[in-house]
Formats: sequence, C-alpha cells, structure tokens
Amino acid sequence: MENQINESVKYLTKEQFETLYHISRVLNSVIYEDSLIQETLDLVIKVINAERGLFVKYDEHENRFDIIGARNIQKENINDLSVFSSGVLQKVIDKKEPCLYHDVQSDPSVSQFKSIQLHNIKSILGVPIKRGDKVWGVILVDSMNNRKEFNEGNLVFLDFFSNMVSLALDKITQMQELQNENIILKNQLQSVKSIPDLIGKSLAMQKMAALIHKVAATDATVLLFGESGTGKELIAKAIHNISSRADKPYLAQFCGSIPDTLLESELFGYKKGAFTGAVADKKGLFEVAHDGTFFLDEIADISVALQAKLLRVLQNQEIIRLGDTQVIKVNVRVITATNKDLKQLSKEGKFRADLFYRLNVFPIRVPPLRERRGDIALLVDHFIKKYSNKEILLDSKALKILEDYSWPGNVRQLENVIQRALILCEDGKLFPEHIVIDDESEEAAFQGTLKEFEKILLKKRLEEYNGNRTLAARSMGVSVRWVQLKIKEYGENI
Ligand SMILES: Nc1ncnc2c1ncn2[C@@H]1O[C@H](COP(=O)(O)OP(=O)(O)OP(=O)(O)O)[C@@H](O)[C@H]1O
Ligand SMILES: [Mg+2]
Repeated sequence: MENQINESVKYLTKEQFETLYHISRVLNSVIYEDSLIQETLDLVIKVINAERGLFVKYDEHENRFDIIGARNIQKENINDLSVFSSGVLQKVIDKKEPCLYHDVQSDPSVSQFKSIQLHNIKSILGVPIKRGDKVWGVILVDSMNNRKEFNEGNLVFLDFFSNMVSLALDKITQMQELQNENIILKNQLQSVKSIPDLIGKSLAMQKMAALIHKVAATDATVLLFGESGTGKELIAKAIHNISSRADKPYLAQFCGSIPDTLLESELFGYKKGAFTGAVADKKGLFEVAHDGTFFLDEIADISVALQAKLLRVLQNQEIIRLGDTQVIKVNVRVITATNKDLKQLSKEGKFRADLFYRLNVFPIRVPPLRERRGDIALLVDHFIKKYSNKEILLDSKALKILEDYSWPGNVRQLENVIQRALILCEDGKLFPEHIVIDDESEEAAFQGTLKEFEKILLKKRLEEYNGNRTLAARSMGVSVRWVQLKIKEYGENI
C-alpha cells in the first residue's frame, strides 16, 4: 500500500501538490457550501488543465446523478448534466475505480455516447468518491480536442482529491447529523418541557413558557411584571430550576415595605460593629446566592439609596458589606418582579431610569388570569389535587361561574376559592354553592394611604392567625422581623 502511494506520488507535479494542500485546508473547514465546492472545482480544472469539471452525488435507489457542482474553465456554473457523459459516469459507478479515457472519439467503449460526440470531447477522467464500499458520487473532468490529453498524473491527483473529499464528507455528515440531533432535541425540550409547577396550556402561557425557556438558558437579568397573584414568584423559581444554575442556591427577598436599613443589611450583609446590634459579621443574601439566582420581589418599593447600591451590584457584580471597605465579587443571576409600572415610575422620577434599564434586560409580562380563562379548569384540577386527597369532580355550572369571573386577585384568589370550596364540599363534587368568591373589591377600593392599609392588613392577619407572627408574616410574604418591627411601630394592640 505504502509502495503504491509512493509510486503514485511521483506522478504529481509541484503545482498539483500545492493544490492538494490548499484543497485539504479548504475541505477541512467543514462548512458545506456551494461556493466551497465551486472553488475546489475551479482549482481542479486549472491544475489538471481540463475544460470542465463535474461533481455529482449518486442516488443508488433511483440510479440518478445530482449535480453538486459543475464548472467550466471560465469559472462559470453549468446547470445541465446532459452536457456531460452519463455513460462515463455510469462506468465509474460500476467499476468503482478511477477511469481514464485518452482518445475517446476512437475508443469504442465510450465513443458512442452522444455528449462525447456533441461536445467534441477528447479526454475524460472520472474518479469515484467512495464512502466505505459504496460510491457516494463521482468527480469527472473532461477536455476538448484542442487541449492536452489527461495523463496518469492527472488521474493520481484526482484520486487523492477524491479521497480527501470523502474524508471531508464523513466529517460534514457527522457534524450535520449532530447538528440536526441537537436541533431536534432542543425543539423537543421546548415543546414538551412545559414549565414544571406552572399550570396552563393557553396560548398566552405557551408563549410565556417559550420565553422562559429561552431566557433560562442565559444569565440575563429578568423583570417579571404583572398583576398580583399571577404567578411571578413561581416563574422566578422556574427560571432558576431550568437554568444551568439549578443546583446552585436560589434566594428570594421581598422588598416591599421593609425598612431601608433592614433590607440593606439583608441584601448586602454587614461587618461587626457596623451599627448597634451588629455583634458579628453577617453575610448578605447576594453573597449567599453566589453562583445561583437571586429573586427580588416587589422591586418598585426599594428606596433611592438602595436603588443606587443595587445598580452597582448589577454593573460590577460586586458588593460591599455595610460598615466594610472590602469589595466582594459575586456571580448572581438577578430576577426581579413588580406589579407596578416601573417604566412609568422611572419617567416620573420615582425609580432610577438607569436601574430600570439594567433590570429590564429581559422583561416578561405575566398575563392576568382573565386573559387566559381557558386555563381555569386546569388550575382548578391542580388545586383540587393539591388540597384534597380524594377524587373530587367539578360541576359544569360551578366551572362556568369560575370561568366567568374576572379574578382581580388572579391565580392566588382562585386557589383560595378552591381551598374554601373543598372545605364546604361534602360529597365528591364541587357545586356552585361551594364557590364563594369574596369581594376583594373591599381591598381594591380602599381609599386610604399605604401606611393605613398596611396597619389594617397586619391587624387582620394577626387576628386570622391568632397572633402567630410567623404565620401572619408568611401570609403577607414578609419576614417575621418586618412584622415585629411593625408591631413595635404601631404598638402591641394595633
Ligand atoms: N400557573 C400557575 N400554576 C399553578 N399555580 C400557580 C400558577 N400561577 C400562580 N400560581 C399559584 O398562585 C399563587 C400566587 O402566585 P405567586 O405568589 O407566584 O404570584 P405573584 O405574581 O408573585 O403575586 P404578587 O404580585 O402578589 O406577589 C401561588 O400559590 C402560586 O403557587
Ligand atoms: Mg409575589
């Protein structure tokens, strides 16, 4: 074999060697493009002094040749296969070997082919491109009467060339198969992988799920906006869970109506002695969330001073603990949520515009439940399973009531209504009389200040939970410390 190669190599000219070297580099780039084939064919035509070059793929089933590239010496494309000798192509396929015909006009084995007569062809050289023991295609060059004849050297050159093409094809096919597989898998993931825990098949939810998948694959800062109870918190967690940070920490901090200093020390931590009560160093949540995701809920409520600090974290990915000078690097994907119009707030100067733009890198609008009523039946089913271990059906009239309601409190309100209905329901079916929708408009129509509302809500929740501060805090989505501080502020018997 080695001897054979050595024997063959001596037929090659310096120019042919150089061309092979050049072609090997071109083919190695593994990008399958027409221009690449054309460029290589032009080189082949030039170096072996041919008139035309043809590169075809052979379709075994249909016994057909498809042009991959065909060029003439003027570097023009040829689109018509019939100008080449299909008889010679077939011979190469049958023999599976390179074929060289010197004086075709007087060679009886090929001279009868019409195209040969028609185009006054003198020499033809055909080389199979083999893949395994099959012929994948053929490279054919020909030359007319007024040109030089092909020789053994041309044949060796073309044979080398064909081997290189074959190797490149293997690589290209493998690459393309992998790419296709990749596209298919990704696509399957996107269509099949609904967001875990996030119930809903409506178009609005499907669109949102697609966005969630897209952004989850990146580290971009996400801003979730939408009415209260639409599932923003759930989505923030879902983004983390399907992101590459899934096995790293996920932390959430509610930022609404929390005293500034408290929130600041939660977020950034402090150094021992930073303020009275700071008896030991404390890590901030940004530090704890390192490499993971940090969800800042109700972001619209943070103070101007904290907005500036948060901007610094987003810009530099670093924090400084309160009372400290040491800079700590953090790598945290930030997700924020709000039910307010942050853009409007930033226009009114109530929220830093530069921070808004940093947070708004990838905004996701979470649609209110009334815009996706088709999901109500699914959600009801989900909540029944969540709160009851018995098989409970939903009466069609009851479903109609639920589907017709406007749900100002969105999914959270629906969840409460179902929880209540399950308590009222005695047999295995939910009927209209079990559906008690409390008029949340009492809260919506509240005319007082936020402080007054805060006080009323706190009182109501403490009563509801028999003074249990932990449960009351949880029901309002705030920390126990916040409740304690408020009780201090308003007095024990608010
Ligand atoms: N698509 C959903 N599938 C299942 N449960 C949901 C869905 N959307 C919301 N929920 C449930 O509804 C409740 C409210 O959701 P969540 O707390 O995420 O809302 P939110 O948008 O953060 O509200 P807020 O603005 O008031 O904080 C949660 O108990 C949550 O599990
Ligand atoms: Mg929330």
